[in-house]
This record gives sequence, C-alpha cells and structure tokens, in this order.
Amino acid sequence: MNSKLVSEILSQKNEKDAVILAHSYQPPEIQDIADHVGDSLQLSRIAASTVSGVIVFCGVRFMAETAHILSPDKTVILPEPDAGCPLADCIEVPALRSMQKLYPDALTVLYVNSPADVKAESYACCTSANALEVVESTPSDEIIFAPDRNLGTFVSRKSDKTFHIWNGACRCHAIADLQDIKTKMEEWPDAELLVHPETPPETWELAHAVLGTGGMIRHVGESSAKRFIIGTEEGMVYRLRTLYPDREFVGGGDIYCVNMKKITLQKILDSLRNLEPVIELDTETREKAYAAVARMTEITG
Ligand code: 13P
Repeated sequence: MNSKLVSEILSQKNEKDAVILAHSYQPPEIQDIADHVGDSLQLSRIAASTVSGVIVFCGVRFMAETAHILSPDKTVILPEPDAGCPLADCIEVPALRSMQKLYPDALTVLYVNSPADVKAESYACCTSANALEVVESTPSDEIIFAPDRNLGTFVSRKSDKTFHIWNGACRCHAIADLQDIKTKMEEWPDAELLVHPETPPETWELAHAVLGTGGMIRHVGESSAKRFIIGTEEGMVYRLRTLYPDREFVGGGDIYCVNMKKITLQKILDSLRNLEPVIELDTETREKAYAAVARMTEITG
C-alpha cells in the first residue's frame, strides 16, 4: 500500500546519508522501515555512535534532543515538531532549583523524559532501563528524582538512599486501566504480565516483572511462557510480535501515546527531502546537558 512512499524514503535516506531510529512505541509501518528500533537508552547509544551525518528520530522531542546532545555534529531531525511529551513538560528549571534549595545535600537524578535545560541542572540522567544503577552510582545518599513519580517510587523501594520525588507522571501510563489488565489476566491465566515502571504501583503488584521496554524484550527471550500481557504503550505489542512470532502478546491497561503516533511515513519523507525540522539547542544548554547524559552513559556503558 505504502510501497511507493517506502521506496522514496529509502532512496532519500541513501542520498542524504541518514539513519532512521524509531522507538518501540512507534506505529508498525515506521518500525518496519527504521534502521534501528529500540528503547530510549539503546537509541541514545546508537545516536552517539552512528557514522551517518543525519539522524531521523521517530519518537518524541526529548528523545531527539538527547540524540542531538550526544551527537552535536550530526543533523538530528524530528519529523513532527509537535511530537512532545507531557511528562517532560511537567518540569521546569525554576521549580527544580527550588527543590534543590530545599535539599542542598541531594544530587538530582533526572529521567531522560525531561527538557534539555532541566537536564543541564541535573547531576545525571537515567532511563527506565538503568535508573537504579544510576541512583546507586550517584555519590550521595540523598537523591532528588524527577520528573516521574512512579519510576522514582519504584527505584526508591529498591534503594537504601533517601528520595525526594518530583510529582510528575506519564499521562498515558499513569492512567493504565487496572480493570482491563485484570480482565486480560482472566482471559489468559497462563500469561505473564509485564508492566512499565511508569504505571502506578497497583499494577506492579499484579505483574510478573516491572521493566522498561528493552527489559521486556530481554525478559520474553528468556522466559518459557508462551503468552504475555504487555502493560505499556501499545506499539510495544507490535515490536514483540515481530521479534517473537512464536509467542502471543496482548496489550494490557489500554495505554496509548498520541504523541508517539504523530509521525507518519509522509512526514519522514518530507523531512528527509528538506532536512528539517532540525533539533537545535543553544550551546551552553547542550554542553551542560551533555554532562548529565554522559554521566549516565559512563555509568551504564
Ligand atoms: P523506555 O525507557 O522503555 O524506552 O521507555 C520510554 C518511555 O518514554 C516510556 O514512556
């Protein structure tokens, strides 16, 4: 159906020396044409090491900004400039500074789902894949964790450190439909339930494992179960079905991110043709944010 569009994208991609990165929450047709599909940590690593001059980032703004922070000499394109993240937008520099004044001995660990200027005010960034490791490596027993309260709570329960947790949340994970999860568990009693730590604690109590999207992929590969209920954004169900065609997957909690679905094949083609919209940050913000993002990559490789 889209074969003409796809072949035009591939030809523009070669002509422009571009690489297409897609988060696992992206729509199926975009996952299918991407050079790499991954979680936020994997995509950051690829962005940092790619030899391509142009990175087309199919995800949301903070992810493309992180790619630009790590690869400032590359042209990073977000095909839909309005693909934002309400979780990232729920924290601003003045409010974080006020919290830091309240707890002067604490170091700030910031979830990458945050704006670049707030990253610039933080000690280290983390993703859902490495949050505990980053917290444990941070040289303070007192941590300000922002902006996701559910991930912060999840990590705090596994750590002996003192936590001050920002009261933010992912709009779609935080309202995961618990009844839908319970219904799916009744329908598939043999299935394992995997949920993202951005979902509320009540869902963790039902789950076989609480994992970021990369962790879910690894978990399925190591599990002997045949069926899985996936408590994260629905794009992940397609990703898992692609990787493990011999297993069965269903979404749990009715989690859908409207921003992740704003990128289309046509927008990718237009952005490759015109090489825009480009992610730009002022140099000072980018360099200060780099310190926090680099600390994360140094800690977790
Ligand atoms: P991952 O860290 O698993 O990629 O999740 C990113 C995210 O934005 C979750 O909502």
